[in-house]
Amino acid sequence: MSKVNWARVKEILDNSLIRWQTEHGREPKMRAVHEGHIGWNSKEELMESRPYDKQLIEPDKIGNGRAEETNLVRILKKNIGGFRRMPSRGPYIPDDEINELVQWINDGVPD
Ligand code: HEM
Repeated sequence: MSKVNWARVKEILDNSLIRWQTEHGREPKMRAVHEGHIGWNSKEELMESRPYDKQLIEPDKIGNGRAEETNLVRILKKNIGGFRRMPSRGPYIPDDEINELVQWINDGVPD
């Protein structure tokens, strides 16, 4: 499989919100509903995202085969703690795209 880069990761996450908006007929209120910061205009912003004190990509899980343990990958696959699977109420990110996110994190989050 070819290497997944940051542009592809951003595209996958951006597309998930476009699909959400189409399905629900309104813009998702990402800032309002996620306590703490969430965003991915840049890779740095994604790395600093920490909604509800859950860092999306924990540094100790990068580049060592532990991507599936990150909060980002976990919450895209199923509920965690009291939080439902994201994006809330779907449509969810397809498995093959989640696998690309996993590959990117395991590759060490390349630009
Ligand atoms: C640990 C990570 C996350 C937590 C704890 C979290 C938590 C929440 C909570 C509490 C809500 C409001 C209640 C609800 O609608 O269920 C919400 C809504 C939402 N979240 Fe997340 N979220 C996380 C990550 C994400 C990610 C990575 C995405 C996108 C890929 C996302 C997309 C959404 C959307 C689209 C909504 C609905 C917004 C609206 O109703 O306007 N969330 N999330």
